[in-house]
Amino acid sequence: MAIEVDSGSGVGAGAGEEGPEAADRRLKAKHRAVWASGDYPEVTRRITAGLAPPLLEAAQPEPGLSLLDVAAGSGNVAIPAAQAGARVVAADLTPELLEVGRADAERLGLEVEWREADAEAMPFADGAFDVVVSCVGVMFAPHHERAAAELLRVCRPGGRIALVAWTPEGFIGRMFAAMRPFVPPPPPGAQPPPRWGDEGHVRSLLGEGAQVLSAERRRLPVTAFASPQEFLEFFRTCYGPTIAAFAGLREDPDRTRELSDALLELAAEFATGQDPLRMDWEYLLLVARRAG
Ligand SMILES: C[S@@+](CC[C@H](N)C(=O)[O-])C[C@H]1O[C@@H](n2cnc3c(N)ncnc32)[C@H](O)[C@@H]1O
Repeated sequence: MAIEVDSGSGVGAGAGEEGPEAADRRLKAKHRAVWASGDYPEVTRRITAGLAPPLLEAAQPEPGLSLLDVAAGSGNVAIPAAQAGARVVAADLTPELLEVGRADAERLGLEVEWREADAEAMPFADGAFDVVVSCVGVMFAPHHERAAAELLRVCRPGGRIALVAWTPEGFIGRMFAAMRPFVPPPPPGAQPPPRWGDEGHVRSLLGEGAQVLSAERRRLPVTAFASPQEFLEFFRTCYGPTIAAFAGLREDPDRTRELSDALLELAAEFATGQDPLRMDWEYLLLVARRAG
């Protein structure tokens, strides 16, 4: 899955002079290209698979319940949810990732419906799902109010919404902050992904639409890398937003070195001193009950 990413196609990148709908389509096409680049399924296998069990434990998808995984990628959560007996729909902006999930599910003999969908305008009826989850997924939809309104709309009254998001202070939140000076500014109205890791922000997004049952900061131990250099090499090869940031600096070796140094320093700062390099990446796990 190697797609060339042009400069300016990072998850903060935006549009020029055009109508709002055309600008949004163009922005989402760029985001899709970012997430299709590199090898996100490998990021899931090596790192974020550990986020699925706590999310599913919180979401309680009992057998027979309908569950929507928003920004599901290659099925990190959708597949174990189906294994637990839920009737699962996995929705994502990036069909290349859904295809990986579809193939994995088929191999495992699981039924999951894979749907290409923008989290800000989902093709599902009001109240269609008993449980709505997202694992470091919906946080990457740029218009937070729109995405939150969609989570609430498609969840049935009394249903459960369970979300995992990287916090602004945790490793991935800090990595986005470190990359910000090296990427084009986001378009007007787009909000930074790690704000979904701020409990107060998510509470205000859900508003009266849901009652927050729990909100907890947790840490994901990351032991996939032997050194900060190995981390950087992996992210430059596999993680779309990092690939896009470096792609924008292709003609500028000094800035490329500065960005590399900033990310190496960050990895060293988060290293716990254990061998191999162990970092603990903080995330917010929030569970809410849909009002009504
Ligand atoms: C960090 S990945 C997480 C994927 C998956 N939830 C997991 O745990 O492996 C972020 C995902 O968000 C998806 N995404 C980004 N913007 C989106 C949007 N506006 N609507 C739906 N999905 C989106 C990407 O395609 C990507 O699959």
